Amino acid sequence: MKQRIDTQIVPVNKKSPDRKILDAASILIKEGHLVAFPTETVYGLGADVFNAKAIQSIFSVKKRPSTDPLIVHIECINALTAVAINIPELAYELASRFWPGPLTLILEKHPKIPLEVTAGGASVAVRIPDHQTALMLIKSSGCPIAAPSANRFSKPSPTQAHHVWNDLNGKIALILDSGPTDIGLESTVLDLQQSPPCVLRPGGISFEELQSIIPDVQMRKSYLTEKKQTQISPGQLFKHYSPNAPLILFRGQTYKHAMYAHMENLMKKQQCVGAMLVEEDIAFFQKLIQMGGLFENLGSINRLHDVAKNLFTCMRNLDSANVDAILVCMPPENELGLAINDRLVRAATDVVCA
Ligand code: TXA
Ligand code: MG
Repeated sequence: MKQRIDTQIVPVNKKSPDRKILDAASILIKEGHLVAFPTETVYGLGADVFNAKAIQSIFSVKKRPSTDPLIVHIECINALTAVAINIPELAYELASRFWPGPLTLILEKHPKIPLEVTAGGASVAVRIPDHQTALMLIKSSGCPIAAPSANRFSKPSPTQAHHVWNDLNGKIALILDSGPTDIGLESTVLDLQQSPPCVLRPGGISFEELQSIIPDVQMRKSYLTEKKQTQISPGQLFKHYSPNAPLILFRGQTYKHAMYAHMENLMKKQQCVGAMLVEEDIAFFQKLIQMGGLFENLGSINRLHDVAKNLFTCMRNLDSANVDAILVCMPPENELGLAINDRLVRAATDVVCA
């Protein structure tokens, strides 16, 4: 049986992190332990990128398949050459525009990066996070830090320290708590090994922003087919980022009415139902809420940044309330909406087109 570790949560000021705390955290990293830390997107579960054993423990702690490669976090652009080789000029152009920030670049792997990090592949994912706590941790550790999102595999990514605690308590040494993350969704993953470059995962930097620098940037081909398949026959295959309760996604012009009818129906069967609602829809559901239906406010549909920021927290809150089902509508697909849609479709067990 795996030894249980005493997991500490330590508050760290987001604007000016306490150096002593970060020095202690970096000693843990150097000793091969795992440290969860905040980024501007979601919390990451970090280890010294050059310590293959520590990297392996990331996979076992998360219960993540070893075939899914990790993102390497660096602190400054000069460190890029320690992680990747044959770096194209475009990478530097993107870095100067978007780093530090929620853009992960796929480049050719440096031979010194252990294969455990890249799941045996020849490419490596890398980004500079836009968060003082993360940057100071990397700097004090003196090495790039490999980190996936700090959740149990397939659960919603953690946007607050207690989410990490709920998933990984007893399994990791330390959680640095700088409060809720700003973006709330993971970084955009852009493959520069393909020509033209291709978005593998929509995220914090929008497709439109990338198009302003790479006019012919592509969206992963399977993205649309996967989405279609999910709509026809949801199944478990692409299920990811998912709460415990089944999540039913509503789209189409009359989604509100379909969602209301479905919620009412489930409530009549004595089920505990939670709706994740955009602010503008809350009044419409008032009657069901008064009758005991639970709801989480995603924020205004006109402020997709708020919806992104609240998304995973709302899922986790409804899970904590032990609901039997979660109902949610699909926001428009522009800007951050694309990433929000991606996460919702992956989390969904059913999609209702109304
Ligand atoms: O915002 C984020 O990206 C957060 C924070 C902690 O940085 N990290 C994160 O890591 O979301 P993770 O492991 O949950 O997701 C990393 C994604 C996965 O979809 C993985 O397949 C992809 O990046 N990825 C990593 N290395 C890759 C590679 N060499 N080639 C293609 N995809 C890669
Ligand atoms: Mg993840």
